[in-house]
Amino acid sequence: MNITSGTRKIIIAIDGPAASGKSTTARLLARKLGYTYIDTGAMYRSVTLKAFEAGLLGHLQDHPDDATSLLEGIDIAFEAERVLLDGKDVTEAIRDNRVSRHVSFVSSLKPVRDTLKQMQRAMGEKRGVVMDGRDIGTVVFPDAELKIFLVADASERAKRRYTELVRKSGGSNNVPSIKELEQEILQRDRSDAERTHAPLKKHQDAVEVDTSGLTIDEQVALVYNLALEKTAV
Ligand code: CDP
Repeated sequence: MNITSGTRKIIIAIDGPAASGKSTTARLLARKLGYTYIDTGAMYRSVTLKAFEAGLLGHLQDHPDDATSLLEGIDIAFEAERVLLDGKDVTEAIRDNRVSRHVSFVSSLKPVRDTLKQMQRAMGEKRGVVMDGRDIGTVVFPDAELKIFLVADASERAKRRYTELVRKSGGSNNVPSIKELEQEILQRDRSDAERTHAPLKKHQDAVEVDTSGLTIDEQVALVYNLALEKTAV
C-alpha cells in the first residue's frame, strides 16, 4: 500500500550501528510510504572514496581542516537508487571494503560532518523522507517525528555483511572471513560511538528495534506500523 492522502508527511530517522539493517529497512519503508530514501552512509562513503582517489587519506590524519578542499563544490546525488558523486556512478565503488575501512575516520572530521549535515537538511526540507545513518535523530533532524534505533548482535551483523559482499562480488574470493568482518564492524562501531562530533548514540525518544531474530519483512512491517501511527492526521 502506498499512503499519500489523509496523512501528513513526516521525517523518519533510522540510526544504529554498522550492518544492523538500516539501509534495507529504510529503502523498503520509503517505498511503502511513497517517501524519498536518503542513505547518509553513502554520502560519507562518497567523500571517503573521493579522499582515497585524491591520495589524501594519509594527509588528512595530520591536517583534518584540509578536507574543505575535497568538499568544495562536491555533488552527491541519489537517482533511481544509484549514488552519483560529481556526476559519476559510484554505487558499487563506495561499498568496497577499502572504503569501509576508512569511512569512520573521514566521518569523524568536522568539515565533513558540517558540510554533509547541511546537504542532508536541505534534502529533507520538504519532509516525506526516510533518512538513515548514525546521527540523524540526534543531530541532523532532532525534530524528526519518528526516530528508530536499529540494533542486532555483532555475529549476526557480520554474517549479513559477508552474505552481501559474496553476493555482490559473485563469490567468496577476496571477501574477508566472517570473523574478520565482525572485528571490522566492532572497530567501526567503537570509532563511531567514541568520536567527538556527532557520535553514534540513541536519542532518548528513539524506539529501539532489535533485528537479530527478525526477517526483513518482519522488521519493515514493525517500523511501517510505527510510521502509520505518526502519519495519521
Ligand atoms: O551500511 P553500514 O552500516 O556498513 O554503514 P553506512 O551506513 O554505509 O555508514 C558508513 C560509515 O559512515 C559509518 O560507519 C560512519 O562512520 C559514517 N556515518 C556517519 O558518521 N554518520 C552518518 N549519518 C552515516 C554514516
